[in-house]
Amino acid sequence: MARHIPEEKVDEIRRSTDIVEVIGEYVDLKKQGRNYFGLCPFHGESTPSFSVSADKQIFHCFGCGKGGNVYTFLMELEGYGFIQAVKQLADQTNIELPEEVVEDEPSSERSEESQTILEAHQWLAKLYHHLLRNSKEGQQAFQYLIDRGFTEETIKKYKIGYSPNSRDFVVTFLEKKGFHPQTMVKAGLLSSNDQGDYSDRFRGRVIFPLRNHLGKTVAFAGRAQGDQEPKYLNSPETELFQKGKLLFNFDHARSAIRKQKSVILFEGYVDVISADQAGIHHGVGTMGTSISKSQANLLKRYADQVIICYDGDRPGVEAAVKAAKLMKETGCQTFVARVPDELDPDDFIQKYGGDRFQKEVIATSETYMTFMMSYLRRDYNLQIEGDRIAYIEKVLQEVATLERAVERDYYLNEVAKEFEMSPDTLREEVQEIQRQTGFKKTAKPAPQPARAEKPATGRKRLLPAFHNAERMLIAYMLKDPLIADKVQNELGGAFNISDHQVIVTYLYAYYEDGNDADVSDFIERLDDQSLKNQVIELAMVPVNEEVSDQEIYDYMERIRTEGSDRTDIKSLEDDLKRAEQQQEHIKAAEIAMKIIEKKKQLKTH
Ligand code: CTP
Ligand code: MN
Repeated sequence: MARHIPEEKVDEIRRSTDIVEVIGEYVDLKKQGRNYFGLCPFHGESTPSFSVSADKQIFHCFGCGKGGNVYTFLMELEGYGFIQAVKQLADQTNIELPEEVVEDEPSSERSEESQTILEAHQWLAKLYHHLLRNSKEGQQAFQYLIDRGFTEETIKKYKIGYSPNSRDFVVTFLEKKGFHPQTMVKAGLLSSNDQGDYSDRFRGRVIFPLRNHLGKTVAFAGRAQGDQEPKYLNSPETELFQKGKLLFNFDHARSAIRKQKSVILFEGYVDVISADQAGIHHGVGTMGTSISKSQANLLKRYADQVIICYDGDRPGVEAAVKAAKLMKETGCQTFVARVPDELDPDDFIQKYGGDRFQKEVIATSETYMTFMMSYLRRDYNLQIEGDRIAYIEKVLQEVATLERAVERDYYLNEVAKEFEMSPDTLREEVQEIQRQTGFKKTAKPAPQPARAEKPATGRKRLLPAFHNAERMLIAYMLKDPLIADKVQNELGGAFNISDHQVIVTYLYAYYEDGNDADVSDFIERLDDQSLKNQVIELAMVPVNEEVSDQEIYDYMERIRTEGSDRTDIKSLEDDLKRAEQQQEHIKAAEIAMKIIEKKKQLKTH
């Protein structure tokens, strides 16, 4: 594997990163004793066997055996190459990498063209933002944003920009940077006409960079400042930008969503930003399209609860119905927030402030069913009997889709009360609908919370004593170079398990290079993934803070005895072969007995 990043940088970045924080973005971790536990993201499980050690800066799953340091984690989970993983953490820790690394390393999965398009976006995002803040023409766009209630801080945070109203400014800029205009047309950054002239596609617009979940700008939305159509001009879809996959602001919101187990789904970019500015950080938005299955599933992975907060006008409500149905299907607890007076969330926040938005809109959001009931009601005049029946029928159809019996009962009773009907009749009706529609529970059972008792360690089988001794000894050696030194002098590489031999050889060399105990760093030296996993597992073996010399010697003694017994057996077996060849049957039988005896002893050590 070609590594262009200097070793010291890789180490520096790793040391400036907290593995608990990085993994905490993906996995809900709970502290138990010295370690953190959660549900393993690499295999399906309902009781947590995935552990992260803050002391050692490593993770390990006792269930599936995956383990490693922070780089390994990102590589496994995001499918990154090593360099990509280092780069991402470099970005997050603000540690500069040498320029050539950043430039030269096209990521493995992306086509070269996508890589170019990605780079062009990074350059342009910077340029647009700079122009908004520093150019004369950008001044009025900046003022437009301030007038809309954006703070300077927000403008910075979202790197909002401005594209000058000039056909060739950006064209020239991109050309100077070496980007081919035709590729830039494909990227949706430039437009071209029949004469083959290129022009800036977003010219004269306020620019909202659209970032992917890694925080990289992969597209832009250009907002017209006046009544110009379209109001928003979005980048076309590319390999990097798929509207059905990307969620606006997900990179910023991810940790808040994870912490609160709740996400707010908005329709507009500005709504998300405005809410964020008002202190509501777990909001994301779709790309002017209705929410897709894949977006819904992504949200479900992070949150137990979703609050749909769309515009208060008719199209907003219609869209909310669609989104609510989809989110409910994922098994997420679905709520719908109502923005009054046909306002959109941003309008409301600008008019009444973030506090009132939180209290009057978000906190009072309705359950899926309550929302659906009042939504359905709009189509009927409940004074008319026929309408009433049609309405009740619709409501019952919705009730029939509810997962939980208590919920179904609750709403049945509501309907029964309102229309003075018998709840039993309604219940029968619902059951009938369920039969007809083949209702099946779709949602998976909620994962059980981390249990207080010790999590399963997966290592149920009993190991022979010498094997255990080797494991304990290596566990101590990984923690303490002095112990490793002692073992190196006394025992050297005379471990019986061949993987252990390899591991200690690497470990001796590691300490000889002057390194301190650092498992997370040490495994970087091992090329073999299965060795890495074993080291991680050994590092997770619970050992005492203090260990006596006697204990260490006892382990070494066990290992040695096993070794000499093994050598004994080996030579006895040679003797046996010889005796057999020479037809010395009695001697052979004696030797065979000895071997059996020895083997028996070995097992009971
Ligand atoms: N949208 C779009 N193209 C348009 C209009 C809208 O892609 N021509 C998308 C944008 O993602 C926008 C969302 O639909 O954020 C909601 O549209 P709308 O409610 O019309 O805009 P607002 O979000 O209210 O934007 P603003 O406050 O700037 O008017
Ligand atoms: Mn708006």
